[in-house]
Amino acid sequence: MCGISAIASHRPVAGSLLQCLKNLEYRGYDSCGMAIFDQGKIELRKNVGHVAKVDEVEQFHEMQGQIGIAHTRWATHGGVTQANSHPHASNDGTFVVVHNGIFSNYQALRNELKSKGFVFHSDTDTEVLANLLQDLYVGIGDVEKTFVAAVKRLEGSYAVAVLTPYLPNQILGAKKDSPLVLGLGDGENYLTSDINAYISQTRDTVLLGDLEYVIVSKENYQVKSLVTGETLHKEVIQVQWDKETAKMGGYSHFMLKEIFDQPQTVNNALAIDDTQIQAVAERFLSKTHNFACGVGTTFYVAMVTSYLFKRYAGLYVPAVSSDEFPTLLPLSADQHTLFFSQSGETYDTRMAVRAAQNAGGATSAVVNVVGSSISQMVDQCIFQGSGPEICVVSTKAAFSQVVIGWRIAMRVGRLNGTLPAAEEQRILGVLASFSDLLERTLNEESGFIRQLAKKTSHIHNWLFMGKDIYYPVALESALKMKEVTYLHAEGLPAGFLKHGTLAMVDEKLYSLFFLPSPEEGELYRSTLAAIEEVKARNGVVVSFATEDNHEAREKMDYCIQLPKLPKELNPLMQLVLAQLFSYYSALHLGLNIDKPRNLAKSVTVG
Ligand code: AGP
Repeated sequence: MCGISAIASHRPVAGSLLQCLKNLEYRGYDSCGMAIFDQGKIELRKNVGHVAKVDEVEQFHEMQGQIGIAHTRWATHGGVTQANSHPHASNDGTFVVVHNGIFSNYQALRNELKSKGFVFHSDTDTEVLANLLQDLYVGIGDVEKTFVAAVKRLEGSYAVAVLTPYLPNQILGAKKDSPLVLGLGDGENYLTSDINAYISQTRDTVLLGDLEYVIVSKENYQVKSLVTGETLHKEVIQVQWDKETAKMGGYSHFMLKEIFDQPQTVNNALAIDDTQIQAVAERFLSKTHNFACGVGTTFYVAMVTSYLFKRYAGLYVPAVSSDEFPTLLPLSADQHTLFFSQSGETYDTRMAVRAAQNAGGATSAVVNVVGSSISQMVDQCIFQGSGPEICVVSTKAAFSQVVIGWRIAMRVGRLNGTLPAAEEQRILGVLASFSDLLERTLNEESGFIRQLAKKTSHIHNWLFMGKDIYYPVALESALKMKEVTYLHAEGLPAGFLKHGTLAMVDEKLYSLFFLPSPEEGELYRSTLAAIEEVKARNGVVVSFATEDNHEAREKMDYCIQLPKLPKELNPLMQLVLAQLFSYYSALHLGLNIDKPRNLAKSVTVG
């Protein structure tokens, strides 16, 4: 959830480091700073606030030098203060460090160093590494050996980059459980938390693995094992995300861009090689028990997947949230778990993967970020190819995961004889038709949705409700609304209403119902009955219906119009239109849509 950047270059780096900070700001934006080596010394500037605000104060461009490190922070240890912001320097200034993750043994190391006379100027765990390097260097005298010795003392999760005058042309980096990638530029090399930092400069990337370290200069690099010390020969990959994809593309917010990316997102998800779908499907059949797992939005993706497995494979694949997974389940070797994670770095999901594997279980994952920790931990990983999702609030990545989960569920159904091959092909055809339909509907309905959001943005309490697969759609849509508008939206099964929640309903409480199509029979009728329960108590109802569904439309106060569409696409369409409703509600409220308060794009700490 913090963003590390480090550059060794043939030219001044301050401007490039500032651009890296801006490109990684979505990972955390409490504070930021940079340290650059020039003429025998390291200059360090840092402060609290967004990158642009800190740059106004610190004037980063004044800093000279061709090698430096930078960091944008989401606070974990220690409050949001200038002293706690990164980079952190050792007492004598000879080692400067940036870090993403948590040194779980930092307190013991801090006490050890204090007993040797070291003074600490921050509350962070990171500062401990700077002073540990200084302390060990005295006895070792070699920077690389000192670095390895220090990093081996660390416990917990980390991605670190270190700058020192003792090694004036090189940066040292290492990782365990937090992301760190190497970008190979033209006369300059990058060491960063993720590809977005340098995507506008180069696509050539080396993925670093856990317990590996790297020594990088402007013209070359060496990757070694922290365990054996041997030099590792790593593949250079070409990242397909280009500069345009990573930029906002003319939209006013990344969230809006990423909502409108979804017609393409469907196609990307459907274009994933069938052998990858088959491989994960076979893992489902290789074990007696299967689970779907994620947290936050990706838990709701797991819940949708659970309904799809029932529908297409006749299986109950429980959805379990990552944070509860290790303690809730009696884990065993006869289990397979499919994990969903956009960032591939979420702490709770990494711990769930580890718990499943420690019990001998099989693990698969659908992940968006290439080279991320989870993608390297699991037995089988499908890269969803949704392109960079910059907005902290997830839309297209989750949507893509639903489509991929859909493909996997159908393939398992085909393999276990539940789903005829012809039916799988028919539904794949239906999903393939969604791209154009979604594109058209987003454009046709966004005006109405924007007006509706404006009209209802004063409402502070919502119920978002649905049944069957529409229930996790309601939960995810409620989370979107909360995240981006800070208003309270409770997602619940529509069938729960009469078991208590109905007591809340009156003219001040608005309800958004995710309504099945009439073709869905009892599911449609029972949801319509729930709408009538709310209307009978003067509650206000927003819902979805096609133009000719007069029976439903007359029961609603506000109807978001749906195009004629195959019933399979109904939940997907409503999921996306609800994203748009949350977006426009937040827009009308004038909130920071791409970086909501208190949140970070990837929660990499427990
Ligand atoms: C998404 O809108 C949320 N910001 C959050 O719940 C997110 O889905 C969750 O933290 C999981 O992240 P991941 O997909 O990167 O693992």
